[in-house]
Amino acid sequence: MGLEVVAVGTEDAPAGAVAGVPVYADGTTPAGVPAIDQGFVSRTEYKASPGTSLLLERSAGREVVALGIGKPAALTLDALRRAGGALVRAAAHGPHATFVLGELGGLVPDASVSDVAQAVTEGALLGAYSFDAYKSDHRPPTLTRVAILVGDAARDEAAEGVRRGRIVAEATSLARDLVNEPAGSLPPSRFAERASVAARAAGLGVEVWDEARIVAERLGGLLAVAAGSTQPPRLVRLRYEPEGATAETPLVALVGKGITFDSGGLSLKPPTGMMTMKCDMSGAAAVVASMVAIAQVGAPVRVVGYAPLTENLPSGSATKPGDVFTARNGKTVEVLNTDAEGRLILSDALSLAAEEAPAAIVDLATLTGACVVALGDSIAGLMGNDEQLAAQIRAAGARAGEVFWPLPLPEEYEEHIESSIADMKNIGATGQAGALSAGLLLQKFVAGRPWAHLDIAGPAFTDKDRHYLRKGGTGFAVRTLVELVSSFPTA
Ligand code: BES
Ligand code: MN
Ligand code: ZN
Repeated sequence: MGLEVVAVGTEDAPAGAVAGVPVYADGTTPAGVPAIDQGFVSRTEYKASPGTSLLLERSAGREVVALGIGKPAALTLDALRRAGGALVRAAAHGPHATFVLGELGGLVPDASVSDVAQAVTEGALLGAYSFDAYKSDHRPPTLTRVAILVGDAARDEAAEGVRRGRIVAEATSLARDLVNEPAGSLPPSRFAERASVAARAAGLGVEVWDEARIVAERLGGLLAVAAGSTQPPRLVRLRYEPEGATAETPLVALVGKGITFDSGGLSLKPPTGMMTMKCDMSGAAAVVASMVAIAQVGAPVRVVGYAPLTENLPSGSATKPGDVFTARNGKTVEVLNTDAEGRLILSDALSLAAEEAPAAIVDLATLTGACVVALGDSIAGLMGNDEQLAAQIRAAGARAGEVFWPLPLPEEYEEHIESSIADMKNIGATGQAGALSAGLLLQKFVAGRPWAHLDIAGPAFTDKDRHYLRKGGTGFAVRTLVELVSSFPTA
């Protein structure tokens, strides 16, 4: 990440930079931020919604842009994150930009100066992201430095937020890079290598299971999906322990779906349905990336991360609709649709996680098109067996600017996944509750541990630029997981 972000006090305010001034929807500015010409705002009918900007003045090397932050009463960290993203876009011609933070540190409910500086930093760095590994005419960006301008007394606290924001944004960019990389150059073995390199550098414990180990560990679901591919599967296991951790230190398990390409298998997807299916390892990418950030910020709990990795392809050796496999926990599963493969690889990884008796298991998966139909491309589905864990995730998501919406796991729908010949089948009732039948299947593998399932099929990938998101992988859930684990109760 080439862009430098720093917190500066009023004494060191840089001259000659594009100055971004946060502006409320009514044209006023927060305390400590210079007022702007209200007439101009009303003449241009600028609504100042978060993530938008408006050029206010340009004169002799100086530019001032309004950065919308919405209504004062509804000010959130994500409005500031979006404003950070809007600044780097408005100042892309560089080389320097300033975000005039003023007294905003005290204006967001339940947020400190550090939290606010963190959000602005995240927005700026995430907004500056681009994936240009395959662009032959790529030039380095012109904007090289963003200064967050605060009162002198708040500078050190803001600097701490900038540091955290950089860690989180860099991790999110790692997840985006992994998702954006074409599936042809990121088979399971390569994903595992890249994850190991990043994890080792962060000081995490790393294990990569090869095919022989996966067979020895009886991961029947992972093997059933991998059967159609010439690329061997992998399972990555990452471990974080805070200093002085004991057996009493709570353990959180993160499990991410790692289908490096989902063609649907023999239940082949139509061509348009597989155009973006390199994104089907977004859950695994989020687990790897969030654990890297967790190690860097130093969370108070132990964390274990599992990423089962395989392609889902059709071939002469592929699993056929109607085949039955035995999962790690001994349960048998009839595979009636090979395109419902995510739940199969997750079943084994959830069993492995549950065997460690964690205080919480959180799985993330681009699992169902049904969840996208229900909640669209900005909201993730949240299912599980533990109200408290669900509430913690929603609260962490609110701070991170990521929305998780609860969906039920009705006992009544258990019959949707009953098989006539095995313990369960991998699809639900035709045309009904597709996100829920996937969740109900996963639930059979968590051995009653506190568990939440995040269906990120919608928000993991975007086909257009949106505020601080860029077209492609979004790194969704990385920020929430870092927040969740950092604030996880230790007693
Ligand atoms: N990876 C897909 C789900 C998906 C769809 C992710 C769109 C991102 C965007 C998953 O493996 C899948 O194919 N699910 C099927 C399940 C069905 C066959 C029961 C689906 O949702 O159609
Ligand atoms: Mn599929
Ligand atoms: Zn899939």
